[in-house]
Amino acid sequence: MEFRTFVSALFGVGIVANIVYQWLIKTKKLPPGPPKWPVIGNLLQLGQFPHRDLASLCDKYGPLVYLRLGSVDAITTNNPEVIREILLRQDDVFASRPRTVAAVHLAYGCGDVALAPLGSHWKRMRRICMENLLTTKRLESFTKHRAKEAQHLVQDIWVLAQAQKLVNLKEVLGAFSMNNVTRMLLGKQYFGAGSAGPQEAMEFMHITHELFWLLGVIYLGDYLPIWRWLDPFGCEKKMREVEKRVDDFHMKIIEEHKRARVVKQKEARGEEDGGEMDFVDVLLSLPGEDGKDHMDDVEIKALIQDMIAAATDTSAVTNEWAMAEVIKHPRVLKKIQEELDSVVGPNRQVIESDLPHLSYLRCVVRETFRMHPAGPFLIPHESLCSTTINGYHIPAKTRVFINTHGLGRNTEIWDNVEEFRPERHWLADGSRIEISHGVDFKILPFSAGKRKCPGAPLGVTLVLMALARLFHCFDWAPPKGLKHEDIDTTEVYGMTMPKAKPLMAIATPRLADPMYH
Ligand code: HEM
Repeated sequence: MEFRTFVSALFGVGIVANIVYQWLIKTKKLPPGPPKWPVIGNLLQLGQFPHRDLASLCDKYGPLVYLRLGSVDAITTNNPEVIREILLRQDDVFASRPRTVAAVHLAYGCGDVALAPLGSHWKRMRRICMENLLTTKRLESFTKHRAKEAQHLVQDIWVLAQAQKLVNLKEVLGAFSMNNVTRMLLGKQYFGAGSAGPQEAMEFMHITHELFWLLGVIYLGDYLPIWRWLDPFGCEKKMREVEKRVDDFHMKIIEEHKRARVVKQKEARGEEDGGEMDFVDVLLSLPGEDGKDHMDDVEIKALIQDMIAAATDTSAVTNEWAMAEVIKHPRVLKKIQEELDSVVGPNRQVIESDLPHLSYLRCVVRETFRMHPAGPFLIPHESLCSTTINGYHIPAKTRVFINTHGLGRNTEIWDNVEEFRPERHWLADGSRIEISHGVDFKILPFSAGKRKCPGAPLGVTLVLMALARLFHCFDWAPPKGLKHEDIDTTEVYGMTMPKAKPLMAIATPRLADPMYH
């Protein structure tokens, strides 16, 4: 058959299938949504900033919108009540994940935690993380490492300040998050003195960014099967390349750890008390499924990848946004520093036990999450069976786009949505400011329900610690010639949503010299 005839035939089949589908669901009332094209449905309505496009649809059609994306049913919302219904009341129905092409290639066939469908595998992998990496005891055992990394961050910036050089905050904050995470996971830091080496560090950072970018892309092959066959922009080819490079990297990490274990066992020091073991050591010591002696290498690789990806970019992106908004608003910087001077004082560095007492800084972080959530959407959820929300029919296998960016800018729940005003989170009764969704679900930094972020306590600590140290140790100003209000706050879409241009700023030390060494 000639190629054009084949494509036309496929197009024809698509139209017929669509008509039959529309006829079948006519009896069931779907949520309102924009008119659809045959075959492609509403795909053309998604532009460069899908979170903004979907928020506009919610403005037009209401809090729950139905879309047909090629062959996939989808709903989207930016409304606290609908979000609560999906994540809490109907958690059992909506806690699965779609099996996307990127997840298959880049998360070991959905064999990780974050992209795995709901089921026994996801449950086991999540439990392994919760019981072996993210326990209070283990997080506490890494406190001294986090303090060291915070001091490195301060020192690096101090050196730049002495040389009157601009600070690239995207770079230094990225290195801070990456080092904290790789210390816990892999037992080594990748950036700075005594690190694994600049070559390896850059490669590692580069692969992680590519992986994240590919995971965030709305790949048409997920919605139009014929797209996969044509792959006109080579997106799936790119996924396969990154898959291979990432896998090589993980394999190297595992081999290094296995060799080190053999040496340790030979020396018979019996160090496996959990104290200084990194996460890979722990995973290598765990039994596998069905009575196997060890976990499979693939399972270990999937977990390493998940933890690095989930932990690094999220906290780095949040920190860069917070710095950008604070430098843009000197009034806020002054209030943060007044609080730090009163809680910590000028003669010591901020330590983790100070963090719960920094109420205004916590409001700043909440406000950052409102305006710039780490990801514009939660990781897409998927319904396991058909159900109803607000009386509307939601078919089985519906993809759910919870628009956290749209939630923070929903004019029905927030006033002056474009204004960065941390005071809006201040609690009049003086109680502690929580950095979570709270009862009202007006922000959703770490999600809720079964799929909520298991790394939230670590994430909050990494964010607050970096910001507290940077504001305590330095005054901040935009590069010469730029006014505060000129700081650019445009974003790029992806699984996380960083600033389009790296944040550059001038740091001026504000504590006595010995504090920086
Ligand atoms: C500021 C830092 C962080 C933010 C803002 C953040 C936010 C999120 C969000 C919004 C989700 C999606 C939840 C959903 O789809 O309903 C998520 C999932 C996840 N996060 Fe985080 N996270 C952060 C740090 C971390 C850290 C430090 C770790 C681990 C070391 C981590 C591990 C995970 C994992 C494994 C998932 C997938 C959970 C699942 O699907 O069961 N995150 N995170």
